[in-house]
Amino acid sequence: MKYQLSCTVLEQRPAGADCYELTLLAPPVAAVARPGQFVHLVCRAPGSQDPLLRRPLSIFAANDRQGTVSLLYRVVGRGTAWLAALSPGTRVDLLGPLGHGFDLEQARGGEPVLLVAGGMGVAPLHFLATALQSQLPAGQVIFYYGAATGRQLLLQDRLAALAGRLIICTDDGSRGRAGPVTAPLADNLAAHPAGVIYSCGPRPMLEAVAALAARHNLPCQVSLEEKMACGVGACLGCACRTYRGDGQVGASGAGGQESPSYSLVCTDGPVFDAREVFPVSGQESDRWAEGEK
Ligand SMILES: Cc1cc2nc3c(=O)[nH]c(=O)nc-3n(C[C@H](O)[C@H](O)[C@H](O)COP(=O)(O)OP(=O)(O)OC[C@H]3O[C@@H](n4cnc5c(N)ncnc54)[C@H](O)[C@@H]3O)c2cc1C
Ligand code: FES
Repeated sequence: MKYQLSCTVLEQRPAGADCYELTLLAPPVAAVARPGQFVHLVCRAPGSQDPLLRRPLSIFAANDRQGTVSLLYRVVGRGTAWLAALSPGTRVDLLGPLGHGFDLEQARGGEPVLLVAGGMGVAPLHFLATALQSQLPAGQVIFYYGAATGRQLLLQDRLAALAGRLIICTDDGSRGRAGPVTAPLADNLAAHPAGVIYSCGPRPMLEAVAALAARHNLPCQVSLEEKMACGVGACLGCACRTYRGDGQVGASGAGGQESPSYSLVCTDGPVFDAREVFPVSGQESDRWAEGEK
């Protein structure tokens, strides 16, 4: 069930470099929202046409009792700058919750559950960690969080409170381990068992995570970000190439020739089984695990 609502802004809190946590009153959305789903916001003043398209943001937190939905966003352009200027009591038009979220059933096997976030990919994984905290024994979630610099890491205290371990990496080494977040992930997977990986972040990072999951034969769910127009499956603007679950190209064309299959990130995703998006041969997964990219 999705809703279109004019929501009251309850709070707009600075959350780090150019980032904000926006809390909206949206009781019907809070009641049904699942980790990994997103909302689509009109980011312009009433009467204005600019920017025309809604902007998608992951649900960072939802509180059914209080009827609130929170978003964590970085100001990168016109739409997010408009959002950042909203003060409590003003209203914003919201469509959601949209898309398919993470499948939490895969976390129930008793093995460690690995969350891997890059940059603003931390937003949906925070919501997921909150949901997992209420259904898993303490300490079963390990949260890997990478960013370009220490300045871009957000809300570390809150993440540390949700996860058994929080492992930080930065590209420039200004905080945590220097280098990609997939390096400690690879080390951990080589030494310890794990049950499932959930990931959201830049596409190259997701590809590396998917390759590691394939190498260790682990279920892996990835949340994709594509530019979106309608958000509801009507414009086909967010199509992405997908493959069958076994890593082979989807529908096969006449004469056995490969013909691509496409999925819509807004309605078929944004969360996909990693093998649907990143088919990986054994050789490729070895290359990723050895850190060649
Ligand atoms: C399902 C989904 C969930 C998302 N969740 C979050 C979130 O929780 N927090 C967050 O900060 N951002 C999130 N994003 C990205 C966010 O939608 C864009 O940053 C936002 O739409 C930019 O709007 P703008 O008008 O401020 O920038 P624009 O003026 O439209 O663009 C500014 C820059 O951002 C880039 N950009 C615009 N849209 C996207 C996009 N969809 N993906 C990647 N780059 C983009 C443009 O290429 C340009 O370089 C999500 C995107 C998707 C598809
Ligand atoms: S954004 Fe229109 S189909 Fe996905």
